[in-house]
Amino acid sequence: MQQSLTSRNKRSIEDHFDKAYELETELELRNKHKLLPLAQGILPPHVSCLYIRQAEALGLGHAVLCAQPAIGNEPFAVILADDLIDSEPGALAQMVKLYEQQPTSILGVENVPREATSSYGIVETSMQNEGVQRITGIVEKPHPSIAPSTLAVVGRYILTPGVFDRLRHLKPGVGGEIQLTDGIAALMKEEAVLALPLQGIRYDCGSKLGYLQATVKFGLKHPETHQAFSAFLAENLQ
Ligand code: G1P
Repeated sequence: MQQSLTSRNKRSIEDHFDKAYELETELELRNKHKLLPLAQGILPPHVSCLYIRQAEALGLGHAVLCAQPAIGNEPFAVILADDLIDSEPGALAQMVKLYEQQPTSILGVENVPREATSSYGIVETSMQNEGVQRITGIVEKPHPSIAPSTLAVVGRYILTPGVFDRLRHLKPGVGGEIQLTDGIAALMKEEAVLALPLQGIRYDCGSKLGYLQATVKFGLKHPETHQAFSAFLAENLQ
């Protein structure tokens, strides 16, 4: 089951994963049989989507709390879609593999330049084996001068349901928002929380540059666009 947190004016996400009757009929009528499976295959058959609206933008922690009625007392994953991670196996698959060995909360992390710490949740860790580290502290968007490390949380979390209770009792944190980071800091006092350095390349699609970089990188590697797009870029770089 895939759940998505949306809000007013974000209907396009629900529409994208819905059945596109008009488009499919149109493609059939025009004998565009190659395109038809593309339109029909957007959502794999084993996936069903559930959408929950966050009526007020009270922060990431609040958004996660909004999903509790649908999740119940199960471990779950949070994916922040603006962090696009290009990797094989996928970022979440890397984390699920670790979860199968150590069933506890896991955060996907990456080293960032010190001057960038104020854009991320930053973790403090004690070394474990093979890059996996146990988190001993986590702080939201610290100034570079006080950041406990340069290991940043990059929009992938596996969390135990214990985090819901912590989130419910939080006061607003950085930016006046209910921060998921603060909920994890509270959870950490009761349960082990691990940091897994992710393999792969991350694009910050929340920034204009990151979005452009991802578009170019994916355009260059897609078999359908690779050749023409490479030629176009080469032409424009001259
Ligand atoms: C959120 C989280 C932050 C995390 C970041 C990853 O911040 O609050 O802890 O490191 O995503 O992209 P946002 O980028 O929404 O400000």
